[in-house]
Amino acid sequence: MLHVPARIVLMYIFISVPCLDTSGVDKAMRMDAVFPPVIQPSDSGLPVGHLLPLGHQREPEGPVKEYTQPLTPTELWEQHAKSPYVPLVYRQAIAKAPAVTNWQSDKYIREKYGDLDVLVEKKHEDRGARPQRMPLGEFLDNYEAEDWYVVSLLPDPMRAEMQVPRSLLCGTFKKNILESNLWLSAGGTKSLLHYDADHNLHCLISGRKDFIMIDDKYDDLLDMADKKQFSGSSFSHLDMDRIDLLTNPQVSEVPWTWATLLPGDCIFIPAGYFHQVRSYGRSVAATIMWSPLDYFDDSDCATTDIDRYTALSDVRLQWTYKKGDKFIDMGYMNVEVMRNGLLEAMKRNNSTKLTKEIFGYYYEFAVVDEEEDKELEEEHLEMIDRMFGILDKNKTGYITRQGLQSLDIEVLKDAARLLDETHGPVRENDEDQTHDEL
Ligand SMILES: *[C@@H]1O[C@H](CO)[C@@H](O)[C@H](O)[C@H]1NC(C)=O
Ligand SMILES: *[C@@H]1O[C@H](CO)[C@@H](O)[C@H](O)[C@H]1NC(C)=O
Ligand SMILES: *[C@@H]1O[C@H](CO)[C@@H](O)[C@H](O)[C@H]1NC(C)=O
Repeated sequence: MLHVPARIVLMYIFISVPCLDTSGVDKAMRMDAVFPPVIQPSDSGLPVGHLLPLGHQREPEGPVKEYTQPLTPTELWEQHAKSPYVPLVYRQAIAKAPAVTNWQSDKYIREKYGDLDVLVEKKHEDRGARPQRMPLGEFLDNYEAEDWYVVSLLPDPMRAEMQVPRSLLCGTFKKNILESNLWLSAGGTKSLLHYDADHNLHCLISGRKDFIMIDDKYDDLLDMADKKQFSGSSFSHLDMDRIDLLTNPQVSEVPWTWATLLPGDCIFIPAGYFHQVRSYGRSVAATIMWSPLDYFDDSDCATTDIDRYTALSDVRLQWTYKKGDKFIDMGYMNVEVMRNGLLEAMKRNNSTKLTKEIFGYYYEFAVVDEEEDKELEEEHLEMIDRMFGILDKNKTGYITRQGLQSLDIEVLKDAARLLDETHGPVRENDEDQTHDEL
C-alpha cells in the first residue's frame, strides 16, 4: 500500500456537478416569498418544522456576511477562502455588467446569442437523465411551456457582457478560474441541499434567489449521498419541502445562515459548503468557478489594477464553449493542478523525466479511490495508458520537465476529458466532418 503524502491529497481531482433541482411551478412568480421563514411553534407535540421545508426547523444564525464593495483577492483569501471557508455576499458587485440590463429580455438574448448551443435540463430533476443540447434560441422559444432549465457553460460571446468582481482579478484565484456557467429558467427552481467541488461566485442577473447555507462540518447530520468517484460534490437525500423530523430529528440541530440575492448581487459559495437554493421569477444567473487551493500567491497583485472594470471575456478560463465546439465541457478538473501534480511526482521520484510509471503513481494518488474495488484495476491501467499516450506527444515514452511545463493546455484537457464522461451530448457531425476538432 502506498503512503499518501498530505500534499498529494490536495491534488485530488475535483469535479463540480451542478446539482439541481425540482420545482414548485405555482410559486415561480412569487417574488415576495417570506425568507427566512417565520418559525411556527408546534401545537401538536410534533417537533417544530416537522414536514415543512428546510429552514423551518430552527431560527437561522443570521444573514451571510455582506459587503457593499468586493474584497481584494488577498482579503478574500485571508478572511473567507482560506480554511475554514466562510461564505459572503457582495451587493451589486456586477451592477455595471451590461448583462444586468440586457439579459432582462429574452428577445435580446435570442437575437444576439440564439445560435449558440447550451445544455438544457428539465426543471424537475431526473438524476438519471442526460441534459439535452440545443441552440439558445430554441430554448428561449420553449422554456416556459417545457419547464426547461439552462445549466451550461456560459458561451464565449456572452462573457463580454459579464463582469468579474475585483476579488478574482489577481493572484492564485485568477490563475485558477475553471469555468463560468449560465443558469436560466422561468423560476420556481429548487435545488437539493448539496455542495460542489470548487469555489463559486454565483451572481444573479434577473429574478430573485434565496440561499440556505450550512457549514460542511454538519455533513453527518444531513443524510448525504455517497460521493461519486472522482467527484468532490455530493447532495443530501432530504426532501427540501418536507423535512421529516421523526426520521431525521438531527436536522433541528444544524445551524444555518441565509441570503437573498437580487440582480447585480453575488454570493461566494465556498467549495464543499452546503447550500440550498430557490429561485423566484424569470431567473438568470452567471457563476464563476475556481479551484480551492491551499495557498495564495499574490505576487502579481501589486502590479494589477483590480479596480478597472474587467469583463469575463478578458480573463482566461480553462473550460469554454464557442459556436461550433464539439463538446460543452462542464465540470472538468483543473488541468493546471494536474500539471503541477505531475511535476511534483517527478520531483518526488528524483526524475528529470515523466515516464508512464511515474504518471501511474500520480494517477494512483490523485484518482484512485482507496476503498474501491480491486476489479477496476484493469480499467485504471488502461486509463493510465490512454492518458499518458495523449501527454506523450512525441511518442518517446517520456516527457521532460520542460516539455511538461510548456505542454499546451489543450493537450492536458484532452487527457482530463478521458477521466469523466461529457456532461451533455456531443455536437453531431451534421456538417463537414473535417471541421470536427474546430
Ligand atoms: C522512480 O520511478 C521508477 C519507476 O518509473 C522507479 O523504478 C524508481 O525506483 C523511482 N525512483 C525513485 C528515486 O523513487
Ligand atoms: C531524492 O534526492 C534527494 C537529494 O538528492 C535525497 O535526499 C532523497 O532521498 C531522494 N529521494 C528518493 C525517493 O530517492
Ligand atoms: C517534444 O519534443 C520537442 C523537441 O525536442 C520538445 O521541445 C518538447 O518539449 C517535447 N514535448 C514533449 C511533450 O515531450
